[in-house]
Amino acid sequence: MSNIPKKYADIVQAWKETPLDCAEDMLSIFVIAHIYRVLKLGPNQVEKSGLGKGTGLIPDGLIYADENRDKAPVIVAEYKKRIPELATADEATFMQLCLQEKSLYREALGYRDNNPKNNGIRQYLDNSNEKIEKNRLAYYGLVFNGDFFQIWRRVDGLILPLTPLQRMTEETIPLLIQQLEHCLKSPRKGLVVSNWNRKGGVGKTTNTINVGAALALEKKKVLLIDWDTQNDLARNLLPSWEAKEQKEDFWSKCLDKLYNKLDSEAKEILKENTENLEFCLEGNKKRTFSLDVLSAEEKWLNLFQANDSLTEKRKVEFMQKAIHLLAFDYDYIFIDTSPNSDIWTRSMLFCIDALLIPADLSIKALHHAVEVHDITIKEVREGKKINKNLYFSPWNLGVAYSNCAEELKPNSQLEKIISKQLKKQEFQGYICQTNLKVYNQAKVAEAEHLPVICWEKSKSASLFQELAKEVFLSHHFITN
Ligand SMILES: Nc1ncnc2c1ncn2[C@@H]1O[C@H](COP(=O)(O)OP(=O)(O)OP(=O)(O)O)[C@@H](O)[C@H]1O
Ligand SMILES: [Mg+2]
Repeated sequence: MSNIPKKYADIVQAWKETPLDCAEDMLSIFVIAHIYRVLKLGPNQVEKSGLGKGTGLIPDGLIYADENRDKAPVIVAEYKKRIPELATADEATFMQLCLQEKSLYREALGYRDNNPKNNGIRQYLDNSNEKIEKNRLAYYGLVFNGDFFQIWRRVDGLILPLTPLQRMTEETIPLLIQQLEHCLKSPRKGLVVSNWNRKGGVGKTTNTINVGAALALEKKKVLLIDWDTQNDLARNLLPSWEAKEQKEDFWSKCLDKLYNKLDSEAKEILKENTENLEFCLEGNKKRTFSLDVLSAEEKWLNLFQANDSLTEKRKVEFMQKAIHLLAFDYDYIFIDTSPNSDIWTRSMLFCIDALLIPADLSIKALHHAVEVHDITIKEVREGKKINKNLYFSPWNLGVAYSNCAEELKPNSQLEKIISKQLKKQEFQGYICQTNLKVYNQAKVAEAEHLPVICWEKSKSASLFQELAKEVFLSHHFITN
């Protein structure tokens, strides 16, 4: 107990005294009450009541950011009983017991292995659940049984892990508290995403612009960051890009401020260099949307890369900090990078919460998509572990077939080839149902420096809107 900060010692002690078969309702007395106390939650900040009108759908706990219950709760909790089998398992068996079918952990998440009516935490975060009043939808979900815990995050319809599944130990109890404190402080932090594949020309930039625009049309605040030395995103959206002459390497300037702990000045530099673009829909000038774009010229991006006054590790850490600062001002931030593994791509991988992988219907693009999904992302997560980060990311949103000449028809020759390839690579991830087919309207939009979403009625715009709905706006539960 000696190494445990005093603040947590109380919970650790209480947890150690919790019976290994502690029933769900007793867990509150043994541990949860102590957690709430360390979080300094007032009596009005915690409640156990229904999420909608009428009965049913009563979660085990709702936690509010402050005493004002008019705002949505920040955290919704699903508690389960403790079982000795889990409490006494060794490390490897513990994970196996949690992840196997019909486990208590899976039940807490809402898998229906055991019981077709089981709903778990998923139902409380489901934005399509008509039983939940919209202002009662929480931003985070906690599943906890005294031995396992995990925090989930909801952004619009998307539900993704904020932390990996963790085992409750003396060491992880402080982490759990810090994670919950982070949630309570930042319920509205934007989601940082990239459309990225190691394969070039698959639609990364086009998807970034148009999925971003589709979300902006839904009144989401969206920032597009161009970290590709080709500057395709900036050239695509800013008619004056070629004539522009940026005077300085603003990313280095920003990092310099961060290095000197001048966070608000750092953020100011980024704001000064952000262009706010207003768009209106063709044929309906009254319907508008806006996108923010942050782009540095190629020469400055290269200079930043070559600058060796800081190690690459430090540069990446500062970029994470810069993006974190911006994330409080947006609903979504998309970062566009080149397919190469330059410092910008590596920074992006460490900054994002989630990755959507575009792949055209070629075997080459698919091969890289699966490698990025299964290998690159895991390597980044491992890299973050060393820093004892509060949470792990990125999470895989899936593969989106993009830049496709034709839709992929079920049972077609190509569909069979692709299925065989995915099977060969043992791909377990999500494949988006929306196929982004190539239409000339998207090329016209590119030439006019506009997102194709401006032609809202076009087939191309519809597909991007469909993808934005499928991945972000409709109920979408991600576990990868
Ligand atoms: N949905 C689409 N409809 C029409 N054209 C498309 C579509 N998606 C991509 N394209 C075209 O394919 C080309 C490559 O797309 P894009 O530049 O988005 O790919 P990328 O992955 O960003 O490429 P790079 O690897 O060079 O960064 C572009 O010229 C673009 O016009
Ligand atoms: Mg590109």
